[in-house]
Amino acid sequence: MKWKSRDVISILDFTREDLETLFHEALEIERRPEKYSRALEGKLVGLAFFEPSTRTYLSFDAAVKRMGGNTIGFTQETSTSIAKGESFADTVRTLDLYVDCLVIRHPLEGSSRFASEIARSPVINAGDGSQHHPTQTFVDFYALWRRFGYISGLVIGVLGDLRYSRAASSFILGLTLYRPRKLYLISPPLLRLREEVRAYLAASGLAFEEIDRLEDVMHELDVLYVTRVQRERFPDPGEYEKVRGSYRVDGRVLAKAKAEAVLMHPLPRVEELTYEVDRAPQAYYFKQASYGVPVRMALLKLVLLGESS
Ligand code: NCD
Repeated sequence: MKWKSRDVISILDFTREDLETLFHEALEIERRPEKYSRALEGKLVGLAFFEPSTRTYLSFDAAVKRMGGNTIGFTQETSTSIAKGESFADTVRTLDLYVDCLVIRHPLEGSSRFASEIARSPVINAGDGSQHHPTQTFVDFYALWRRFGYISGLVIGVLGDLRYSRAASSFILGLTLYRPRKLYLISPPLLRLREEVRAYLAASGLAFEEIDRLEDVMHELDVLYVTRVQRERFPDPGEYEKVRGSYRVDGRVLAKAKAEAVLMHPLPRVEELTYEVDRAPQAYYFKQASYGVPVRMALLKLVLLGESS
């Protein structure tokens, strides 16, 4: 499908070929940044963040500005007329009048899809509740592609809050576009995959196994993708207390890893990934975060200008 003017809502809206186009564009931008420094001149991107963010917000902002474009927006709904009772729909409709593209993060599942139905400009989902986070998956897959040159054939473990983490769900759903050799879904029983994601995976034919203990498979993994427990998404704080601290990647666990394995994390980390691990050769999460800028530059260029400019 054509990239120009396209909404970016779920990783499953894309094909492997679409991702290849995106990766090659990002690589070209990494190699020759000066060539693109004015590519988005005159373009205005709206950043509507109804939830906290560090990397997603800043890397979108950096991506637009590194290509000579500009951004407007907000990071707290308390600074908008939502605080006076205005609806999400009217807020989206208004921002849409002012910009060429909207980037939206919101705590409700489906909010970006809904926004894309009412906005004239393309909408990019920067995270909707526990559901989707396609641009994080673009960054994650690009990081794998840069490191290994391929994704199919890898043995991948995803550890942590598979129930509420949109970064994990999106990553796992996205893997159905490839053929990893094996996928281990590692979590305490309370944080297992949501049924709709499990059903999709099963129907895709991808070989996956749901297990409790990382220690049993660490030595097999090429990739370990870790996520934090998404405390803010638990309807019941008592449930959160039950699982908090139930898994942790530290030097002792990592000692069992292959030397050439990579340890990924969308960040922020809280207590599931210790700081001592930062020195390990497998630590890849800050490199992964650094790819947020070229990948989002490539994405914005494709969505705003199309493929051949
Ligand atoms: C993630 C998110 O917001 O879903 N952060 C990010 O975008 N890198 C992960 C998280 O909050 O745990």
